[in-house]
Amino acid sequence: MNKIETKLVKAGEEILDEAAELLKSGGIAAVPTETVYGLAANAYNVNAVRAVFEAKGRPQDNPLILHICSTAMLYDIAASVPELAVKLAESFWPGPLTMIFPRKPHVPAETCGGLDTAAVRMPRSKFTLALIERCGFPLAAPSANTSGLPSPTSAKHVYEDMNGRIPLIIDGGECRYGVESTVVCFEGIDTVRILRPGAVTPEMLREYCHVVIDSGVLEKLDADAKVISPGMKYKHYSPNAEVYIVKGTDETIVEFLEDMNVNRTGYLGFGSEALPENVTAFPYGRTAEEQAENLFSSLREADGAGCAEVYVRMPDTAGIGLAVYNRLLRSAGFRVIDTCK
Ligand code: TXA
Ligand code: MG
Repeated sequence: MNKIETKLVKAGEEILDEAAELLKSGGIAAVPTETVYGLAANAYNVNAVRAVFEAKGRPQDNPLILHICSTAMLYDIAASVPELAVKLAESFWPGPLTMIFPRKPHVPAETCGGLDTAAVRMPRSKFTLALIERCGFPLAAPSANTSGLPSPTSAKHVYEDMNGRIPLIIDGGECRYGVESTVVCFEGIDTVRILRPGAVTPEMLREYCHVVIDSGVLEKLDADAKVISPGMKYKHYSPNAEVYIVKGTDETIVEFLEDMNVNRTGYLGFGSEALPENVTAFPYGRTAEEQAENLFSSLREADGAGCAEVYVRMPDTAGIGLAVYNRLLRSAGFRVIDTCK
């Protein structure tokens, strides 16, 4: 791919027209959302969508999420919208919930990874909502990282991965949640299945319906397993460093890290551990919200510091913690070390 010049600009009124013109002419641009940064294209323009797959190095069968700014746009995409979806949209949109619907025939198969369904969400960023409105079409946007690397939670992360590959990055500051949206599909009239956990937690969804957590959320899938959400089968969110999840108490984890006796060992913990000198600490946090916010940026920082191995303390899996653990399992290739044994 030829190198192109990448412009990095702050989100605001001034850039709306230029960004909308770029997207209308089939170009692509990185945009802020409340979860992670997205790499956006006109969802209805097959060539624009292909350019997104190419810039990310993303497998063609991994479908994109269509970002909308109004319910009218949802009805333009979805062939049918269950009543439960209307209720969830009223409660959680704009926000980090993605819902899967049968798609209308005019929605390109390429956008949806060849599936006959489309994933739809209304993001909360004021700028990105205004941009979608200005464009007049939904924006297909995967996370704006190189496929396989940790998702970008700041414009700087996007720049690290996409400099020279895309014409425009719009800087809307740090993302509020730090993990991607919750992805659900519908089963019957009163049940959702969580395919990817996020900031809209199972606890929150249970206020409205039955909730099934797909086995792929916490279990390793066979390479040839048939999955509803193709994104679940790929190695994901991994820095260059080898990542391991460590389970235990402050004491057993510190003892384990002392025994490692290797340099360039990174650690993401709760902040309460008295770490040995050979270990470099990166911010992670005590609460699930902090951990979600810091996870991807800390993994990137550990890479930047040249860590060969990174140990991450096992998070509590309540609330948004389920999303943290789901991403961590994938970045660690499902390697969990119990330091109490
Ligand atoms: O928060 C987010 O969702 C971010 C921001 C940019 O909105 N986007 C994001 O996109 O995380 P991406 O492409 O990195 O992840 C989309 C996930 C993948 O796991 C994909 O397989 C799943 O959603 N997905 C998309 N369309 C689907 C469909 N029709 N059926 C099942 N899964 C789908
Ligand atoms: Mg992604």
